[in-house]
Amino acid sequence: MDDQVRIAIIGCGGIAGAHLNGYQQLQEAGYDRFRIAALCDTSEQNLSRFAANVEEKLGYTPDRYPNVEQMLDEAQVDAADICLPHTYHHTAAIPCLEAGLDCMVEKPVGITIKAGQQIIAAAQKNDRIVATAEQVRRDIGARAANWAINEAGLIGEPLFFGFDVKTWMELDLESYAWRWRHSKLLSGGGMVFDAGAHFADMMLHLFGDIEEVTCTLKTFDTPIIDMPGIGPRPRDVEDYWVVTLKFASGLFGHWSYSRAAQAYHINSSYVWGTEGAIKDRQEWMHPFQFGGDIELTDGTKIPYEEIEKQYLCLLSAGTSWNQWLSDGRRRLTGRPASAPRLSAARCMRQTTLGNLSKSPTC
Ligand SMILES: NC(=O)c1ccc[n+]([C@@H]2O[C@H](COP(=O)([O-])OP(=O)(O)OC[C@H]3O[C@@H](n4cnc5c(N)ncnc54)[C@H](O)[C@@H]3O)[C@@H](O)[C@H]2O)c1
Repeated sequence: MDDQVRIAIIGCGGIAGAHLNGYQQLQEAGYDRFRIAALCDTSEQNLSRFAANVEEKLGYTPDRYPNVEQMLDEAQVDAADICLPHTYHHTAAIPCLEAGLDCMVEKPVGITIKAGQQIIAAAQKNDRIVATAEQVRRDIGARAANWAINEAGLIGEPLFFGFDVKTWMELDLESYAWRWRHSKLLSGGGMVFDAGAHFADMMLHLFGDIEEVTCTLKTFDTPIIDMPGIGPRPRDVEDYWVVTLKFASGLFGHWSYSRAAQAYHINSSYVWGTEGAIKDRQEWMHPFQFGGDIELTDGTKIPYEEIEKQYLCLLSAGTSWNQWLSDGRRRLTGRPASAPRLSAARCMRQTTLGNLSKSPTC
């Protein structure tokens, strides 16, 4: 088909499989304006396994390439879906953009701010699209939580949050996907940087611009690990952090994590407001991806299932929050509180709580 976008998947490891599932869902839904035309990976084993998965899920086998240079020389492609370790995001994206491909780069966009800026500059220079794969805010749980907090105003005005996780996670010294994640040179940082991209995106989405941030990091666990491509080195990415945040809206938050906690473990992730609080259903790396449960000041409990049902009910009824707001739309990130918005939120809150108590069915 002439108008199909010919896509190259660069990096055929773990997350590329999730991307493939997404392509499969699009194809099964009847969207046929793309074709996975090329696969690129330095590992022949991963290339072969992934090609077989594409054959099984999409019904055809793409061409395979052992490196980006050869792929750009030989393949007929329009776009690249880049699923590489962080250190290779810019070294793959920039030549692709220079060669005229649009790119989606997995999070975090670049291993450093400078690398990220160079990717954006290459897109601008070559008039190409560059996007990053940041999916958490689009998940149903996160959307319902955003609606509950910011649109239905179910916890009143948000005041502060605390995401505090202390756990023990065994180091995986064997798998390639974990070995590069233990090296700052290959990953840019530990989970504060890796899954932290999701955390930061979701907090900006929920609460708007950040005015002040402080961060303390520490690496406690430093075994020698055979890092891919650079050999044995001590693990040097953080396994403990405390972050404090002050938002332009006046909201405060702290975020603290360790994977090196012995014996007692905690997972305490809440947003508190003037009239209640919402507790994240445990996925600290992907805030609210699985939704959150609310408890109000008077002890009323609203489980996530009810929140999702009410949210979907409003969506399917075509009720837009904009219809409830006299001051209309909000920016994608950032939503300074305003008197009309807060009074509209109170009105929505009462209506929503009334409907929740009746357990609506759509
Ligand atoms: N959005 C999400 O929820 C999510 C989840 C997991 C990972 N990720 C991101 O996806 C990216 C990849 O992570 P992963 O877990 O799939 O890693 P992975 O280690 O499982 O896969 C990386 C693949 O890249 C290949 N590769 C390495 N160097 C290469 C090079 N120079 N050229 C071509 N291929 C090369 C490896 O052989 C491997 O197959 C990272 O940016 C990560 O942060 C995102």
